[in-house]
Amino acid sequence: MSDGRRGHSDGVSRRNLLAGLAGAGLAAGAAAFVATAPHDTGGADAADGASGAPSDVHDFHGEHQAGIITPAQDRLHFAAFDMTSTSRDDLVALLTAWTAAAVEMTAGRPVGGDPTSYDSPPNDTGEAQGLPASRLTITFGFGPSLFRDAKGADRFGLADRQPAALKRLPHFPADNLDPHRSDGDLCVQACADDPQVAVHAVRNLSRIAFGTAALRWSQLGYGRTSSTSTSQATPRNLFGFKDGTANLKAEEADALQQHLWVGAGDDPKGDWLAGGSYLVARRINMNMETWDRSSMREQERIVGRDRGEGAPLSGGTEFTEPDFALPGRGGRPLIDVNSHVALAHPSKNDGVRMLRRGYNFIDGNDDLGRLDAGLFFIAFVRDPVRQFIPMQTRMSRQDLMMEYLQHRGSGLFAAPPGVRPGEFVGQRLFA
Ligand code: HEM
Repeated sequence: MSDGRRGHSDGVSRRNLLAGLAGAGLAAGAAAFVATAPHDTGGADAADGASGAPSDVHDFHGEHQAGIITPAQDRLHFAAFDMTSTSRDDLVALLTAWTAAAVEMTAGRPVGGDPTSYDSPPNDTGEAQGLPASRLTITFGFGPSLFRDAKGADRFGLADRQPAALKRLPHFPADNLDPHRSDGDLCVQACADDPQVAVHAVRNLSRIAFGTAALRWSQLGYGRTSSTSTSQATPRNLFGFKDGTANLKAEEADALQQHLWVGAGDDPKGDWLAGGSYLVARRINMNMETWDRSSMREQERIVGRDRGEGAPLSGGTEFTEPDFALPGRGGRPLIDVNSHVALAHPSKNDGVRMLRRGYNFIDGNDDLGRLDAGLFFIAFVRDPVRQFIPMQTRMSRQDLMMEYLQHRGSGLFAAPPGVRPGEFVGQRLFA
């Protein structure tokens, strides 16, 4: 096991570590590093040492994993890993080491804070030193292939604990998936208000995994495309529309039980997942060049809401319930029956809802000067078979927005319940 795996807490925040260095006469270089750190700290002042301030830290421990109903931060680094080891002990050791590192990093502390030997690689990669915790959350998930690989092999003795709903998502009409951006044995969703903090988290988890699991694909995201709390303003996606208006919100306690958290009796094989959720990831490219040449009338017809306010085209303000029957000119409904909102609304989906937590992405451009950009869609649901699959199937056939979208990446993961102090993430799966 590498040094980075050593679980420990030295109670030293990234800021306090610097203070300690100052006491040891090592302050000059480190202080200069803080003073010149060029990163956006999400409004928190690194020099003031916001690390450790309650508003800046989401506790890693809790009933549910953080990063689901905790208010969506501004930045994402999502990563999927494949196990390179077939040993169950190695898998448990990895999850134990990842948990210890996540506890440290979400508190704004460096990984494996013991002083490192000068002759060995540092325990922490260092790029978040001096930065506040930035509301970092690290959310872990298990892919279907962890239970049975592509050939059906039960590598880790987990096959009889695979919930029925944890299957590779089906191929939806119009999918154009890139296998190099899809699936994976394990996933990590790192969200923070500072991109450097989110990237630091994935980098260190990746480094800890060396020899046990390897990065399969990853995605950076900026600018949340949904609100997960009524206290947050609704952001906009790259089509310029408010996104997240009708999202499931943290304050809706009954709806969270009904639509988000896996229940104790949901699946006899998946009892370990009770209190957890399923994470659906879709890398959706948005054809911005074509969208930008379509009229405002057409754009609003496609979404079913107006662009300025985010109000449904049937009238009212942002949070007015849409009236899908209200007729307009020629007796046709004001909200097109094939608009995105009409097809995604619970009234058209047996009452199901989901908690969306996606991010914008721009990964450069192609040879023709078109942006490789879109929405990295993340949704958490209690049951993907009842909630995501039927909705996506219908939308991929009928949604007017599909003309401007390409689904290029896909993954389904079971996000285990929250971790109690002393446990490792997903421990109940191995009990
Ligand atoms: C790039 C792709 C997408 C874009 C640009 C997009 C955009 C939007 C916008 C602008 C809204 C209206 C505001 C709101 O209530 O949040 C919305 C609502 C919604 N979208 Fe999407 N969306 C995309 C993909 C998806 C996918 C793949 C799903 C699920 C299969 C989905 C499910 C929903 C749901 C459930 C709602 C709320 C509907 C309601 O209750 O009124 N969206 N989306």
